[in-house]
Amino acid sequence: MLQWDDPIAAVTGKKAQEPAVRPGMGFQDNESLMTTAGAAPSVNPDPDAALDVEPEGTGNTGLEDIELGAERIRVDDKKIINCRADLNQLVPFKYQWAWQKYLDGCANHWMPQEINMNADIALWKDPNGLTEDERTIVKRNLGFFSTADSLVANNLVLAVYRHITNPECRQYLLRQAFEEALHTHAYQYCVESLGLDEGEIFNMYREVPAVARKAEWALPFTRYLADPDFHTGTPENDQKLLRELIAFYVIFEGIFFYVGFVQILSMGRRNKMTGVAEQFQYILRDESMHMNFGIDVINQIKLENPHLWTPAFKQEMSDMIHDAVELEAQYARDTMPRGVLGLNAPMFEEYLHFIANRRCAQIGLSELYPGADNPFPWMSEVLDLKKEKNFFETRVTEYQTGGALSWD
Ligand SMILES: [Fe+2]
Ligand SMILES: [Fe+2]
Repeated sequence: MLQWDDPIAAVTGKKAQEPAVRPGMGFQDNESLMTTAGAAPSVNPDPDAALDVEPEGTGNTGLEDIELGAERIRVDDKKIINCRADLNQLVPFKYQWAWQKYLDGCANHWMPQEINMNADIALWKDPNGLTEDERTIVKRNLGFFSTADSLVANNLVLAVYRHITNPECRQYLLRQAFEEALHTHAYQYCVESLGLDEGEIFNMYREVPAVARKAEWALPFTRYLADPDFHTGTPENDQKLLRELIAFYVIFEGIFFYVGFVQILSMGRRNKMTGVAEQFQYILRDESMHMNFGIDVINQIKLENPHLWTPAFKQEMSDMIHDAVELEAQYARDTMPRGVLGLNAPMFEEYLHFIANRRCAQIGLSELYPGADNPFPWMSEVLDLKKEKNFFETRVTEYQTGGALSWD
């Protein structure tokens, strides 16, 4: 057990010798971020060795030795990946868009408990309140999202964060990680409020194939990056990072979440499960910002490293998006084998083609499904949610920052 007055060297030295932490969610043979960082040569018993230049490709975490008297950081020193400049200095800003997204994320703060679940509880308990198909939609989506958002959070802190070498982007990643925690909290809050079997919901990604397939699809990408021996700095590894960012931000958060969002929000539009729908609406707003941040990061990496964006890599990314659309269309068919709520699986297929086209355009790929239309134009209204007044007009919510503080 460490004490507060232990010398820093003892702390970091001790960390370096700790065995690898093995987190859950299917991560294998990974160390936690802190353990990985602790294993870096931050404390070196040989003073001469401290002067050694770090070998190329070992990465920059921000936990390296402090270089006393080093030149001050200039904006031009900053790079989104493979940056050698000190990562503990937020300013001067280079990527204003990342800082702005951090500010926007904070301005949109919300908490799951602020949302009134009473109407949902009454409806869920009423034997005639919902059809079996509607109940399946609620449970399947809570099942998928409850573990999917944990997977996204684990991917961020255990895999992505280490390789993004820019402080303002990291600041947003920290905000995003907290929002993912809030999302998992929101699903847990829905499960608890409705009195659902938490074992059934939280195990769905291991027991229901349509839910499992999407998590299974994503896991190999994150494993690469979470491997403590993986470092960016070669074209091959930088492409692996880019591939992973596209897999998580563009596909997992940008395509795999959308059938579920439409299904739950459609219920809210029909005045059913309005509390759950409101939770999902806040989550959708956060997710749309996550995805836009990811797309900005991807495009910035492309801009700074044009050699990574080869015709073969572009084709591979297009194929990956195409396969993901098929997987999500399958999820739509599995979660609604018959039409329900005025929705049916072919409408979702059209919608997926429409959003896949948008995602492709956003990262500079050709549209995969020319002419696809948006059968759910109301989804864009949902994204325009103002925090002062929610879409379903169930309740006014205004988050009071610091409201609970008192100096007395
Ligand atoms: Fe999330
Ligand atoms: Fe997210």
